[in-house]
Amino acid sequence: MSEIALEMRNITKTFPGVKALNQVCFQVKKGEVHAIVGENGAGKSTLMKVLNGVYQADSGQIFLEGKEVKIENINKAQELGISLIFQETNLIPQLSVAENFFLGKLPKTKVGLVNWKYMEEQVTSIFSQLNYKIKPKEVVVNLSAADKQMVEIARAISRNAKIIIMDEPTSSLTDVEVENLFSIINDLKKKGTTIIFISHKMEEIFTIADTVSIQRDGEMIHTAPITGLTSDQIVEWMVGRSVDTEFPARESKIGEVVLEAKKVCRKNLIYDVDFSLHKGEVLGFAGLVGAGRTELAETIFGEGKLSGGEIYLHGKKVSIKNTTQAIRHSIGMLTEERKETGLALDASVKSNIVIAKLSKLCFGKNLFINRKAEKEVADQYVKELKIKTPSINQTAYNLSGGNQQKIVIAKWLFSDADILIFDEPTRGIDVGAKHEIYNIMNDLVSKGKSIIFISSELPELMGMSDRIIVMHEGHKKGELLREEFSSEGIMKLAVS
Ligand SMILES: Nc1ncnc2c1ncn2[C@@H]1O[C@H](COP(=O)(O)OP(=O)(O)OP(=O)(O)O)[C@@H](O)[C@H]1O
Ligand SMILES: [Mg+2]
Repeated sequence: MSEIALEMRNITKTFPGVKALNQVCFQVKKGEVHAIVGENGAGKSTLMKVLNGVYQADSGQIFLEGKEVKIENINKAQELGISLIFQETNLIPQLSVAENFFLGKLPKTKVGLVNWKYMEEQVTSIFSQLNYKIKPKEVVVNLSAADKQMVEIARAISRNAKIIIMDEPTSSLTDVEVENLFSIINDLKKKGTTIIFISHKMEEIFTIADTVSIQRDGEMIHTAPITGLTSDQIVEWMVGRSVDTEFPARESKIGEVVLEAKKVCRKNLIYDVDFSLHKGEVLGFAGLVGAGRTELAETIFGEGKLSGGEIYLHGKKVSIKNTTQAIRHSIGMLTEERKETGLALDASVKSNIVIAKLSKLCFGKNLFINRKAEKEVADQYVKELKIKTPSINQTAYNLSGGNQQKIVIAKWLFSDADILIFDEPTRGIDVGAKHEIYNIMNDLVSKGKSIIFISSELPELMGMSDRIIVMHEGHKKGELLREEFSSEGIMKLAVS
């Protein structure tokens, strides 16, 4: 019989208005990759934060290799050999990669100075194992989402933990990076490290997991070896019903050109990109991470400076210098990094939803906010998008990752923009809710809105787009019509 590395017994955790964990029992064998799946808000991250000492359970026990332990804080978890890679990055943006690695315990030289050389060597060595290039001296704020995620992963690995918890580690990674990560996971497994792996991506679960546990509404409802299970079965356990996994059909009329980009350049990032976006259209953007899709989108949204070329809206040349101007031109952008740019984390669910278009709720000379209307709007979106929150007055910070993403979507829906840029909108969203987002996109274009859709998941990009533009290192490499879509065709252009 294999040894049990970890047992959590009858763990209960309540937040005001939410029973996040209800008598959860969870057992993980030594040296296995144990996946946890469940809908947004099911309690996956909370369970892992209890294990990592971020939260204290209201009741319940934790055993490591059969011995009961008390995990009062993160340091204690580290001492016990538990390391958590957080769902939302937990790095200090103003510090370098190396400083983040050694946070709290900077290595010293014999004479008591910080040993930068040693730090850099360590970081370089871990990253070369991961086959990933990052300068140890780079300040975290300058890193892309993928880089930051890799830094988190590398940091956890460097701590030689016995149990490594990865909470949606692949959400910002490309296929190649995911492959690298999986080979690292397999190496760690050979060394006897136990991995707990949370993901909304079924293919990943089937590739890497030995065992899967399904969590629903704060309860652990099933644990089983992965062999013999099907994806449909797992999804059904997760949501308690069967889920349609086809892309919904769309009936939208594609109309005139609403936005045209001519030879758009952004210094050192984007080179002479041309494209047009039509009314009622979903225009997909494919490419590897670093292809410049986000940077192009930011330029249109007034977040990045246009260094050459022109942008036309409804045939008229415009100059959009900041996001306020973009919003005035009826452009909205759902950003890739919700924590940094999409959400006011310390504001309520309600305020976050109405913020981009407060004027819609104002009345009178002094622009009073119609509080009743504000509440109705927020209630409506919470219901429509099934945002899991005890109340619309809850602070956004306290919501689960996927539910935070839904708030950002609600915000742009309410803003009523005509042109919507969706940058990885389904990142971190559970399988059932992804479908709701596809339906919303269809609904928007059928009402005559236009969507720029950036996604690293080819199936959804091909399933939802009318046309796809493929980018590589800041250049446009091709444009495909629906009948020309194929993953091979897109990948070939994306790497050329
Ligand atoms: N600090 C907190 N304060 C209040 N409520 C919280 C807090 N942290 C989590 N919750 C609530 O607990 C529930 C479980 O959240 P959790 O983050 O564990 O979900 P999850 O399964 O990780 O979801 P996701 O897939 O979206 O990441 C949610 O309803 C969430 O809003
Ligand atoms: Mg989570």
